[in-house]
Amino acid sequence: MLVYLSLSLRCWNLEVAKIILDTKKYLREKKRMEITNVSEYETIAKEKLPKMVYDYYASGAEDQWTLKENRNAFSKILFRPRILIDVSKIDMTTTVLGFKISMPIMIAPTAMQKMAHPDGEYATARAASAAGTIMTLSSWATSSVEEVASTGPGIRFFQLYVYKDRNVVAQLVKRAERAGFKAIALTVDTPRLGRREADIKNRFTLPPFLTLKNFEGLNLGKMDKTDDSGLASYVAGQIDRTLSWKDVKWLQTITSLPILVKGVLTAEDARLAVESGAAGIIVSNHGARQLDYVPATIMALEEVVKAAQGRVPVFLDGGVRRGTDVFKALALGASGIFIGRPVVFSLAAEGEAGVRKVLRMLHDEFELTMALSGCRTLKEITRNHIVADWDQPRVVPRL
Ligand code: FNR
Repeated sequence: MLVYLSLSLRCWNLEVAKIILDTKKYLREKKRMEITNVSEYETIAKEKLPKMVYDYYASGAEDQWTLKENRNAFSKILFRPRILIDVSKIDMTTTVLGFKISMPIMIAPTAMQKMAHPDGEYATARAASAAGTIMTLSSWATSSVEEVASTGPGIRFFQLYVYKDRNVVAQLVKRAERAGFKAIALTVDTPRLGRREADIKNRFTLPPFLTLKNFEGLNLGKMDKTDDSGLASYVAGQIDRTLSWKDVKWLQTITSLPILVKGVLTAEDARLAVESGAAGIIVSNHGARQLDYVPATIMALEEVVKAAQGRVPVFLDGGVRRGTDVFKALALGASGIFIGRPVVFSLAAEGEAGVRKVLRMLHDEFELTMALSGCRTLKEITRNHIVADWDQPRVVPRL
């Protein structure tokens, strides 16, 4: 009887051990299987984040037509891949404003990243450095330029909104310079904030334990801080609506950093940007958060590239979620792209590891797209590698 009992106990223990091992294997497997593309992070972020925060990150303006179009428009462009080219070696490295980076995929400024994850902008900065690419820090970050610089070496740009009090602008720019930031991305599509209705419904505010760190300790001078709606909404209200092209020139008198004009959508403004001394142009509709019913950025890109006539590099952001999107943007003449929401969503899901993974997935997908299209270097990507809806009637390229 005793022997029988001890035997069945041992069997039972083995059974339990097997179940535990199987469960561990299943969980490992599940974890590994979980995320296979950038867009999947949005679903996870939606589950994890408070509704107010998720909505702030995800929303576009008004009917959100442009928000959908930023994605849909990529499907209006198809590939014309070339075959039987030795693609055993693919070089994705490039140079942006003289800085060598590992791939033409960079990080756009998105405000208030500590709402997504306690490490916020620190995690993004580390992930960008690890991937060998550029991070753009938002003026409205929840970590300061100095804090982000303290995470270690990396090529970083500083995004700037221009405030009514130019003394505040000058202080911000000086601090960014001192902290080793390499360029200013001047956002020009925000004389007023677009109407994001989810934020209005949710009465969006920055959680009280967070602050817009770049404004902390600044001499806000003429800025009256007595407003009780909090620094965030106060600062938003201080954006200078009179901003014009002459201010782009003024900015060059207070900094020697190159200036990227962020928010260009037309040939006319591309020409003015070049004439105003911009070092580069970012074709952007602010992730569809400003004027609704502007075209998808990928649709506006080509006219801007043509107007720039190679005098300055043209970049694009808006809806880039796949390596194929990156390729399409480059084929239409972009020198590189920036991603916005994928960063905050992956931050929310997995912190720094999530942002690293997003950059890795886009890197790998883009590399694969190049290989399958017969391109070994970025220079080999041409307009003939794609055909767009708006190319009708299609002109067969001359041999
Ligand atoms: C932004 N964007 C933005 N732009 C800017 O110049 N300063 C900023 O502070 C912010 N903040 C911000 C917050 C959030 C939550 C989003 C989604 C976007 C716009 C951003 O730089 C970029 O233009 C878009 O995000 C690109 O589109 P995708 O990649 O989000 O589709």
